[in-house]
Amino acid sequence: MTILDIVTPPDPILRQKTKPVVRFNAELQSLIDDMIETMRAAHGVGLAAPQVGRSLRLAVIETLPKVDDAGNEIKESRELFVIINPEIVWSSSTVVDGVEGCLSIPGFVGEVTRHDSVRVKALDRHGKKIKLRINGWSARIFQHEIDHLDGVLYIDRLTSPDNFWREEDYYDQFTETDASEEASVHSPV
Ligand code: NI
Repeated sequence: MTILDIVTPPDPILRQKTKPVVRFNAELQSLIDDMIETMRAAHGVGLAAPQVGRSLRLAVIETLPKVDDAGNEIKESRELFVIINPEIVWSSSTVVDGVEGCLSIPGFVGEVTRHDSVRVKALDRHGKKIKLRINGWSARIFQHEIDHLDGVLYIDRLTSPDNFWREEDYYDQFTETDASEEASVHSPV
């Protein structure tokens, strides 16, 4: 497997609408494996194909592991999703504000409003139809990744232009005054 280079602005590929995947061949399988490897190496929880320079409707997502009372990672509590040609078919009317980052915009975070819950139709890595109901923080990751496939970045959706920070400033500003804010910042996607 190969760790791929992650594309950053102003590379125009980040702003293009991606093409649907039509061939579930060996080349696609190795791209998917490389994307999973690249996401993990970058300590991210999601990565979309345009972020590695491929304009394809494909993203990988790996939810954060659950931890036990002693703070140890619970084995196999991470969940890995490969979503191909995904479509959000339903979104909750309930929305939540949260702070997110992006592997293509390193060193920054921003506040974005997302649906609390979504239903997604997609194909898995072998072309089999899947239907997913996703809630909470994972729903945020799915919306962020599917945005990438439409050429949309989270900076387009900030709750206010002021709610965009250098990562270290965000931590300095909020963790001293409100410890609960810290928990709302997760790995970039
Ligand atoms: Ni991203």
